[in-house]
Amino acid sequence: MEYRMRIIVHTAKCQGHARCWAQAPEIFNLDDEGYILPGAIDVEEKDELFASRGARSCPERALEIDCT
Ligand code: F3S
Repeated sequence: MEYRMRIIVHTAKCQGHARCWAQAPEIFNLDDEGYILPGAIDVEEKDELFASRGARSCPERALEIDCT
């Protein structure tokens, strides 16, 4: 499958606000303490709106949207 959007996760910036998860719990996975899990997230086309909302909701700018 080809993806147009990828979320780059900067785990060192995450402070556990969980706003990303509140916007899109199927896309953003948190650990038991509420911090984002490491690893880039490839976003399916149907999920792009919620993924971008979630990424933009992070007050720490820990989630970078990469569209190629
Ligand atoms: Fe972390 Fe930002 Fe989500 S601080 S839990 S990446 S809203």
